[in-house]
Amino acid sequence: MQAEFDPHSWLRPDMPRTRHIDWDATVDFERERLRCSVTLTFDRATGGRVVLDTRRLDILGMTLPNGEPLPHTLGESDPVLGEPLEFVLPTGEDTVRVDYETTEGSTALQWLNPEQTSAGTHNFLFSQCQTIHARSMIPLHDSMSAKVGFRARITVPDGYTALMSAKSLSDDGAAEDGTRVFTFDAPQPRPPYLIVLVVGHVSARRIGPRSLIWAEPGDLAAAAEEFSEVESLLTAAEDLYGPYPWGDLDLIVMPPSYPYGGLENPGLTFLSPTLVSGDRSEVGVLSHEIAHHWSGDLVTGHSMNHFWVNEGFTTYAERRITEATAGVDVADLHTALAVDELRADFAYLAETPELTRLRKDLTGQDPDTTSSWVAHEKGGLFLRALEEAVGRDRFDPFFKRFFADFAFKSLTTEEFLTYVDGFFPEAVDYKEWLYGDWLPAGTPEVTSRFLAETAAVGQSLPGTAQEHWNVEHWKAYLGRLTAPKSEDFLEALDRAHGLTGHANLELRVTWLILGIRSGYRPAVDAAVRLLGEVGRMKYLKPLYDGLAENPGTLPLALRTYRANRGSYHPIARNVVESRFDHLGIPARDYLGEAESADA
Ligand code: BES
Ligand code: ZN
Repeated sequence: MQAEFDPHSWLRPDMPRTRHIDWDATVDFERERLRCSVTLTFDRATGGRVVLDTRRLDILGMTLPNGEPLPHTLGESDPVLGEPLEFVLPTGEDTVRVDYETTEGSTALQWLNPEQTSAGTHNFLFSQCQTIHARSMIPLHDSMSAKVGFRARITVPDGYTALMSAKSLSDDGAAEDGTRVFTFDAPQPRPPYLIVLVVGHVSARRIGPRSLIWAEPGDLAAAAEEFSEVESLLTAAEDLYGPYPWGDLDLIVMPPSYPYGGLENPGLTFLSPTLVSGDRSEVGVLSHEIAHHWSGDLVTGHSMNHFWVNEGFTTYAERRITEATAGVDVADLHTALAVDELRADFAYLAETPELTRLRKDLTGQDPDTTSSWVAHEKGGLFLRALEEAVGRDRFDPFFKRFFADFAFKSLTTEEFLTYVDGFFPEAVDYKEWLYGDWLPAGTPEVTSRFLAETAAVGQSLPGTAQEHWNVEHWKAYLGRLTAPKSEDFLEALDRAHGLTGHANLELRVTWLILGIRSGYRPAVDAAVRLLGEVGRMKYLKPLYDGLAENPGTLPLALRTYRANRGSYHPIARNVVESRFDHLGIPARDYLGEAESADA
């Protein structure tokens, strides 16, 4: 038993912990609530005090299996953790039932009106539980160290489909009362943030032997085309990690407000619609989410203090999959540009160097607003340094072995250290990588043919000799253009290459940031429009930062945020608002007078 406990959960090592969840939920689009009952099974029947994680749930009652009410108390609210739900489990008992409803304070759930979907005809509901939001959907031990299996029975209005990160057991068809019931089973233990629910008017198409893609019907053809490489990516991942452990792998293209590029739910990977560019140029995100099915889903960091175990391994593996499927120059370009973004995060974290460590201590801190590219890119570079030190011949078998040895477990950085030391004593200075600030001396230099080719153009305009450039050249070129640039330069560049309306959002946003930093009005206007269309945080953060940092566009940034706040997911709101706080902007400016008085 690990003595270390997760600072983001009320679970303690000596406490019975949730091991299995039986969830019954009815989706009420009118009240924007889930009406639920959940039966929690604990890992032991030794009895004793149990404290569950909850956030803004209406707890209606708790009962024991014999129907007897179970006395419980809902403790005071902690701004990061939510409210502890405390009770004493009688000796010999290992299950309890909780009846409850979610509320408008759920930080996991986003309820969309028909206008916020592409067809505009049906409501849509989705959950986003990573990092610590499962507790606002289900009362449980919401810790990466408390893996659970689950079964679920979801009742939705007729005409809707319910999807979960689980095997679908049945769809009972429409009942006479105008509802429809979907049941799911997910027996293998997984971290609670991987319990997800999507309810909408969606349909599916087969794109691989193990894969369906889901989307709103009108978006399905483009989505299927964009992600049709899923099986070859999955095969490349299996070469690196071993057999895929979760049965099938379906994908779903989420609504535009989805706050991440993708999310690795076992069997049901979420993908942002911003990836659908028409040329498969953002499939690296799918490689990343596929890699997570081992690093993150199967083997998990013990808590957000060890999040690099999820994201660092995954980023390393993502680039290996890209190398195997698109070539080493594409993979290395992605790493080099991501390291640029890591360095930009370092500048943002200048006053909090402890947040640039792989092994963190986030006690009392919000894991969403303190999140950066450190876990991903510093973690990925660490594994790359290890690979370079020992050679692929020795590294690859180690990698595979690690996932077999820790399957279905969660581990700390220290457990990793012991494990890797046993394989490769003295290969790299692990301690500096894991416990040091910033990047260690001797960090691998990453470059790419694309960077070398575009470096020849440097800070000038591409000409006829660059007509053959592909999207990777453009990423390399734009990624290294420095602001400010003159209006003439920007106008000529956009006129020749259509960047403001570019179908690849990565390129478009890189361009818009350059334009914003140069005070170029057409880019400012286009950024404001984009901020009303998408809710992916990777874009919200630099666009709002760019607009808010310039006194000339700050009022526009605040107006744009106030106008769109209601259509962003709760996690995105929290994160963007923390960026405004970081710039010293008072809450009344970004919330408006009325709402900041409520807050
Ligand atoms: N699991 C993450 C999303 C995440 C990160 C949730 C941090 C909560 C906290 C997902 O796999 C991810 O990393 N998404 C990235 C894209 C990826 C290709 C780096 C994103 O959303 O931009
Ligand atoms: Zn990830």
